[in-house]
Amino acid sequence: PGWVAQQGSNAPPEWVAHQGSNAPPEWVAHQGSNPPPEWVAHQGTCLSPPAYRTDEGQPWVLPVVKKVEKLIVADNRLNHEYLPILGLPEFRSSASKIALGEDSPAIQENRVGAVQCLGGTGALKMGAEFLRRWYNGNDNMKTPVYVSAPTWENHNSVFANAGFEDVRPYKYWDAEKRGLDLAGFLGDLETAPKHSIFVLHACAHNPTGTDPTHMEWTQVAEVMKRRKLFVFFDSAYQGFASGCLDKDAWAVRYFVTQGFEMFCAQSFSKNFGLYNERVGNLTIVARDADNVRRVLSQMEKIVRVTWSNPPSQGARLVAITLNTAELFAEWKDNVKTMADRVLLMRASLQAKLQALGTPGTWDHITQQIGMFSFTGLNPKQVEYMIKERSIYLMASGRINMCGLTTKNIDYVAKSIHETVVNVQ
Ligand SMILES: Cc1ncc(COP(=O)(O)O)c(C=O)c1O
Repeated sequence: PGWVAQQGSNAPPEWVAHQGSNAPPEWVAHQGSNPPPEWVAHQGTCLSPPAYRTDEGQPWVLPVVKKVEKLIVADNRLNHEYLPILGLPEFRSSASKIALGEDSPAIQENRVGAVQCLGGTGALKMGAEFLRRWYNGNDNMKTPVYVSAPTWENHNSVFANAGFEDVRPYKYWDAEKRGLDLAGFLGDLETAPKHSIFVLHACAHNPTGTDPTHMEWTQVAEVMKRRKLFVFFDSAYQGFASGCLDKDAWAVRYFVTQGFEMFCAQSFSKNFGLYNERVGNLTIVARDADNVRRVLSQMEKIVRVTWSNPPSQGARLVAITLNTAELFAEWKDNVKTMADRVLLMRASLQAKLQALGTPGTWDHITQQIGMFSFTGLNPKQVEYMIKERSIYLMASGRINMCGLTTKNIDYVAKSIHETVVNVQ
């Protein structure tokens, strides 16, 4: 014990207290991806579950994942040796392939590389760490990083935490028309300092559920190219928006055809339901093979001091699935099951509100895509929903469509109706 005390394997209690090893509870409640515990305790209707839920309100282990898990257990060639620093090679290449497309010119020209990361968050983190060190000069913390207004809250923190001092919002959401503020978005691209970094949601924008159309993406790409802005895609929901992997990768692939060098952070948390396995990939599209090699050599150094080397289970599950034709087909089917359930809930909610004659227009419910929807309910209305109807949603009015089921949707629709009529 004397030795332990002297070597300080445990920090003295005062130190823990002073350094704040626990974040204040309000912070956790607001920033956390889980709904606050008070909500859960109430047993009401939670329209903000942190992940996909079935029509029974339960988490879903994808059948294809169960199948591949059994294959892994039965495969005596596999062991628990360390993976290479950059991750499982067959995972990295197959993950990049689903983002960029089988026949991607960039892959054929050997100018694509990848880093296996701890979830989409890890991929954003590795990309941010690299850019701070090596982009737009060395260790240039002044390069502006633009994130959409609003965005997934962690974007701000990940880039700030990597050392970027100037993380700014770009215009994205037009609250009045409940859709994309294209003019504002393009305006911010035009006035951003050259070489600024723009984080773009590849599809199923979180939290608004509003993506640019193909035509709008081409306008965004035109300005970004002309103004030499860096494209950092965040692809956390591929397959979830439309049910089709290729459709959901349209923007990423279009930017590649326009000759951009870029990063694309991919998460397999949602589309494989592998939330706690931390499976992500950072796809790097560079000018040429030599640049990829140089970027990866620096990435190795960054990974080494961050997590040293990544975990294998999730990466194996994904790699085996993507590289086996029948399993790949089955996975696409599983993804479609999830996307279709969300689309069905959107259509039903809109139809029910229209049938009730709820004041306002509700077309945005079906125009928005992916898991999330900005209902347009204001903070007072949200408060009413929580207090009077025990329906729990974010103060911003955002709901996760997976919180809706065939059993609770009538109650939710009637409650929204009552709220909109009674509270302005
Ligand atoms: C837009 C966006 N990016 C990244 C992530 C992170 O995903 P992961 O859990 O794989 O780190 C999320 C998760 O909610 C997200 O919504």
